[in-house]
Amino acid sequence: MTTNKALRWYNKLSLVHDLLSFRDWPYREVREQAINALDIQPGDTVIDMFCGTGINFGSILDGMGQHGHLLGIDGSAGMLARARQRIQKAGWNQAQITLLEKDVFDLSPDFVAEILPLEQPPKVLITLALGIFANYEAVFTKIFNAMPAATRFAILEGYCGADSRGAWLLNFIGHSDCSRPVWEPVKALTDEYQELWYPTKFKYIKGSFIVASGVKRC
Ligand SMILES: C[S@@+](CC[C@H](N)C(=O)[O-])C[C@H]1O[C@@H](n2cnc3c(N)ncnc32)[C@H](O)[C@@H]1O
Repeated sequence: MTTNKALRWYNKLSLVHDLLSFRDWPYREVREQAINALDIQPGDTVIDMFCGTGINFGSILDGMGQHGHLLGIDGSAGMLARARQRIQKAGWNQAQITLLEKDVFDLSPDFVAEILPLEQPPKVLITLALGIFANYEAVFTKIFNAMPAATRFAILEGYCGADSRGAWLLNFIGHSDCSRPVWEPVKALTDEYQELWYPTKFKYIKGSFIVASGVKRC
């Protein structure tokens, strides 16, 4: 049993997560934009950090074809159990998918090399997760440092001012703080940096989504 408060919350939330997120209706389009920003090619290795219930998996697998590999990492056993159910239900090739249950704070500095033999730099996706961490810069930097040069990163996050209408709702459900400028470390550390902003679909929530992407310098 984890002592991490956010992970204990996500273990409980996993039972209703996909229903509570309206089967992904508010995020579907921006999620696709984040996955597009990764420019996934047949045969790629894609790491879905904080993969949750595996909502990104279908689009990632479509992009990489039969010869790519998907590594999903999450610290919540409950969320990963849902991801496993999703994989089984969809009938995806399980040999192409590795799921790892690990708290990001417990990952070794070299975790990718320890899990996967990499023939070429992977692509790293982080959706709706960095805002959970008060020390999001350190968390992103840890993931960044574990990847080889030329790794492409794409993140998706909701953003609202701390006092924006509806911010409390996003923060309550996601156990995160949507006023954190989580794209800044991506901007500081990568080349070919791009950011795209989108309005939220819920009129009640005065905020936006950001997709930020870039490539680790060689
Ligand atoms: C809001 S969910 C996002 C899930 C998925 N990426 C998506 O777009 O729906 C955040 C995820 O981060 C995971 N998480 C939170 N803190 C974590 C930690 N310290 N280590 C690993 N995973 C963590 C949670 O278990 C949860 O699945």
